[in-house]
Amino acid sequence: MKKAILFALVTSFTSTAVLANESAKTGDATKGKAASAVCSACHGADGNSVNPDWPKLAGQGEAYLVKQLHDFRADKRAEATMTPMAKGIASDEDVLNLAAYFASQKQSSATANKDKVAAGEKIYRGGIMASGVAACSGCHGPSGAGNEPAKFPKISGQHSKYIIKQLKAFRSGARNNDTGKMMRNVVAKMSDSEIEAVAEYVSGLHE
Ligand code: HEC
Ligand code: HEC
Repeated sequence: MKKAILFALVTSFTSTAVLANESAKTGDATKGKAASAVCSACHGADGNSVNPDWPKLAGQGEAYLVKQLHDFRADKRAEATMTPMAKGIASDEDVLNLAAYFASQKQSSATANKDKVAAGEKIYRGGIMASGVAACSGCHGPSGAGNEPAKFPKISGQHSKYIIKQLKAFRSGARNNDTGKMMRNVVAKMSDSEIEAVAEYVSGLHE
């Protein structure tokens, strides 16, 4: 009897948790598309930006996109161009819808600078033992696709210029919205040339 009650309690708790989790992140991609005209000027109509200063959003994890937009809106991630754009989004519901729209798009491929790829691959898969840099693949996955539930972003196929800017921003602390300093700890001891090599490798990675 006691076991049965416990089982019922655990089951209802789990399903409530699952429901809460789902309702917290379900956006409507069709409504998101309708709200995305202002974003497309920089990020491209389908989330594939042409200018490497602006990140691709196509195919990015939905929960990660939601987190970034909330972080910009709450000044937890600051950047002169994007902060006002995020604050201009009309509602939290639009944040969810925009994230759903861009997450549902297919990312365009990129080509890497071949000279740096071999050194970058070593860092991506094995880290740098001597300076204690963790392997990127441990969190971002073997193909750079990220981990949606953990909000580890997809980084494969992203513009290398944008990746380099983010890694340096984590290193200087200009970007500090990574939970538990996960990224700041990784890049703390990376040199510019190590950052450039790993960025080239990641940019050329395809799923
Ligand atoms: C004027 C150009 C511009 C416009 C318009 C713009 N953005 Fe951005 N966006 C940027 C830049 C630049 C960055 C990179 C910021 C940085 O370097 O930290 C960025 C970053 C982002 C990120 C973080 C991506 C990542 O991989 O972490 C998201 C999400 C985003 N933008 C969504 C949007 C949405 C949604 C809109 C429309 C409401 C929009 N942007 C409009 C320039 C723009
Ligand atoms: C311990 C887990 C972990 C490891 C190891 C790790 N990352 Fe990350 N990375 C994260 C998390 C979490 C974020 C998102 C932070 C946030 O919420 O803004 C992130 C964000 C990033 C971003 C920004 C993406 C964007 O769209 O703005 C880049 C680029 C990146 N990581 C590259 C790397 C590289 C290259 C390595 C290896 C040298 C690496 N990461 C190792 C967890 C990790």
